[in-house]
Parts: sequence; C-alpha cells; structure tokens
Amino acid sequence: SQTWLIVPAAGQGRRMGADKPKQYLTLADEQPVLAHTLARLHSAFPSARLVLCLDADDRWFSPYWVPFTDWQRVSGGSERMDSVLNALHAMAADDNDVVMVHDVARPCITLGDLQALYQAASTHPAGALLAMPVADTMKRADDKYQSVQTEPRDGLWHALTPQGFRYALLLRALETARQQQTLVTDEASAVEALGEHPQLISGRRDNLKITHPDDLALAAAIMAAQTANTPG
Ligand code: CTP
Ligand code: MG
Repeated sequence: SQTWLIVPAAGQGRRMGADKPKQYLTLADEQPVLAHTLARLHSAFPSARLVLCLDADDRWFSPYWVPFTDWQRVSGGSERMDSVLNALHAMAADDNDVVMVHDVARPCITLGDLQALYQAASTHPAGALLAMPVADTMKRADDKYQSVQTEPRDGLWHALTPQGFRYALLLRALETARQQQTLVTDEASAVEALGEHPQLISGRRDNLKITHPDDLALAAAIMAAQTANTPG
C-alpha cells in the first residue's frame, strides 16, 4: 500500500497581512515556509506521494521547493476542507492507503512527531491526530467579552496537524461534511461527525501554526533551537 501526504497550501494568510501568502515568507536559510515544511515531511516519508493544494492564481510557487519525486498539485477550494477534498478526488489512492494531512503553515513539525502520528494513523481504524493538552484555564465569554464561566479543562486538547486516516474514511467524512454544509476546520472533526473517534497523540508544544506576524520570528527561533538540540 501507498502512503499519501496532502498539504493544504491554498490559503491567503489574511491574519498575517503580508504582501504574499504566509507560506511564501522567508524563514531560515532564505527558504520559504513551504520549502521548510515539505523538507521535514520528506525527511520522515521519503517515498510518500505528495498532493499539494495551491490557489489557482498562485504567483509565487516554485517546483524547486518540492523534494518529493512523486507529487501532484491540485487547485485549492474556498475553505481548507474544499482544498483537501479536491486533493482526495484527484489522487489515485486505494481505500486502505494512509493519508496524512499537514498544514503548510506548520514548518516546525519534527521527525519524532511525524513518525508517532504515522504509526497511530496506521493502527487506529478511526485515524489519529497530533494534539496538545490545554494548559491555560478556559473561560466562557459573553458577547461583551465578559468572563461568564470557567470551563473544566480536563479532557480538552488543542488539535494540531498532521492528522492521518485511511483514504476511504477521510473521503467519506469530508464528503458528508460538505453535503451537510458543516464547516469543519480539521479532518478529525469530520470523522467525529460520523461517530468515529480518532486517537489523540500528544505532540510537541513547538508545532506552531504560523498565523500572525509575530509567529514568523517565533518559528525561526523554534527551528534554530530544534537544530541545536539534534544530536549529530
Ligand atoms: N488552506 C487551504 N485552502 C483554503 C484555506 C486554507 O489550503 N481555502 C490552508 C492554508 O494554506 C494553511 C492551512 O490551510 O496551510 C491552515 O489555514 P490557515 O492557518 O487559516 O491559513 P490561511 O487561511 O492562509 O490564513 P488566514 O486564515 O489568516 O487567511
Ligand atoms: Mg484560514
């Protein structure tokens, strides 16, 4: 069987507010975020097949940044889930192939987390996602941002990526979400809506999603620290 990677990279980066989408902003070594993310995925899964979702009007992408030998690009949709669905429809996968979806905006993903997620996604029938237990006290606010209630934090996790599932399950989950017009912001929520329970895999806290302008320097610092701490 084949291992697949879907990398949604068709977002506009509105919260970043830069002159181009955030995946093309430069990080370490003068390389864009997209190149860093793909390099890390490739180091963990050198023979995986990559499906890259890019905006149809993308003016910045270069195939130079793709280290995979077997890859294809598809057009993004209006929401992240539409981009991922376009990828699922374009790929010639078998029902039992493991498909991992990873945000292009998470370049700090480590080899260890990628291996742990893949292992879990291959083992658990409902798939798996990297996640992080909530550390802060959680407040419920009213529409004036007044704190109304404190929510118990037991059992609450942040959902990260990658998230990995068998192809048939992920396709059925996202097609169902689209039919029911529910906007899902990650793959696991679409799978949960089918009554399936994806496995949470506790991932590193430095798997940052670059979202706001400050995050670029933070991501560069995280990557420098990771490199410094890698033996050899
Ligand atoms: N994404 C995508 N297609 C979309 C929207 C988002 O492929 N229609 C991708 C983004 O490129 C990113 C990931 O989904 O890798 C997570 O989305 P997000 O962090 O929200 O990125 P953007 O949508 O680009 O940022 P913003 O919401 O600030 O505009
Ligand atoms: Mg977005």
